[in-house]
Amino acid sequence: MLAYSAYRAFETPRPVGYCITISRNPKRTRRGARMELAITKPDDWHLHLRDGDLLQAVVSHSARHFGRAIVMPNLKPPVTTTARAVAYKEAILKAIPTGSEFNPLMTLYLTDETSPEEIKIARKSGVVYAVKMYPAGATTNSQDGVTDVFGKCLPVLEEMVKQEMPLLVHGEVTDPDVDTFDREKVFIETILAPLVQKFPQLKIVMEHITTLDAVRFIESCNKETVAATVTPQHLLLNRNSLFKGGLQPHNYCLPVLKREIHRQAIVSAVTSGSRQYFLGTDSAPHERRRKECSCGCAGIYSAPVALSLYAKVFEQAGALDKLEAFTSFNGPDFYGLPRNTSRMVLRKSAWEVPKTYTYPSGELVPMFAGETLEWLPFDI
Ligand code: DOR
Ligand code: ZN
Repeated sequence: MLAYSAYRAFETPRPVGYCITISRNPKRTRRGARMELAITKPDDWHLHLRDGDLLQAVVSHSARHFGRAIVMPNLKPPVTTTARAVAYKEAILKAIPTGSEFNPLMTLYLTDETSPEEIKIARKSGVVYAVKMYPAGATTNSQDGVTDVFGKCLPVLEEMVKQEMPLLVHGEVTDPDVDTFDREKVFIETILAPLVQKFPQLKIVMEHITTLDAVRFIESCNKETVAATVTPQHLLLNRNSLFKGGLQPHNYCLPVLKREIHRQAIVSAVTSGSRQYFLGTDSAPHERRRKECSCGCAGIYSAPVALSLYAKVFEQAGALDKLEAFTSFNGPDFYGLPRNTSRMVLRKSAWEVPKTYTYPSGELVPMFAGETLEWLPFDI
């Protein structure tokens, strides 16, 4: 928690250039200093790290800012077994910078064939923290995902309840006749709501929510068992960002950006202080040529900028006092894990986002490439 006097410092408008140090210790809040926000080290509860040289290229961006991350299993081939999750974790640990304490929390990729036995093995391993459900065909590398959750996955879900293993859902239907912009809403009505009703004790995280419908649904559910992650792009951009001055492939992700009313609903939800929402960047790197082509991949590479962007959202909403719970408390509390003990600082200081990051196989274009951001994260 930030000290109350530190919160108050944000309430009075200050002349441009006037800064206040915000710190846990009110004695360190002083006029004339740089504005700084000291928070418990955040975690990223939804992250794509990939493998091979792409993993090598991106992992340090997450390891620098986050204590832990829930690592998505949609590799080629997908991480469908605990044995693969263990091997993937080892590869990640090898790729992180020396001295980093970044802890990857692994997930299993749910298929029609996943067995209840695999869930028991996953729980015993101490390596797997959740199971991800991709409706088959919904997004990148989801072709091996679930085709009929009620027809094929009931025994696995029953075992997940027993093992207290959370289910993470990509919440979109795949029916090509359903409008792309309605796929989340229809998923809630036809899959998620019935699933929650059938398994009231199953912990479910609706990943990367994008609509007012999702906010209403989450808030209608039991706070102990149903929660949502929220990305920086769905807090800061609406669907106009896809077409501003021409097609903008680097703003294309799934679920796709929605109308402004949905963006505003999500901002209100996360800045309300509700513990049902937590940070999940969905940082999803794709090599530049795979984004800028005739059939570009879905995914926004946000890891290097995500914390700055979340701070911007909370600042704009006048809710910086609620930022720390969103970034650092609500996630571990929901997963039943300890909060991080180390801390970090976000300093109000302009910095320019690199236009690209190069790596042996090509380039990555980060979210807000080349733009100036205001909050600079660093370790203390
Ligand atoms: O935009 C996205 N990219 N959404 C997803 O669900 C998957 C991700 C990826 O893996 O690239
Ligand atoms: Zn994702």
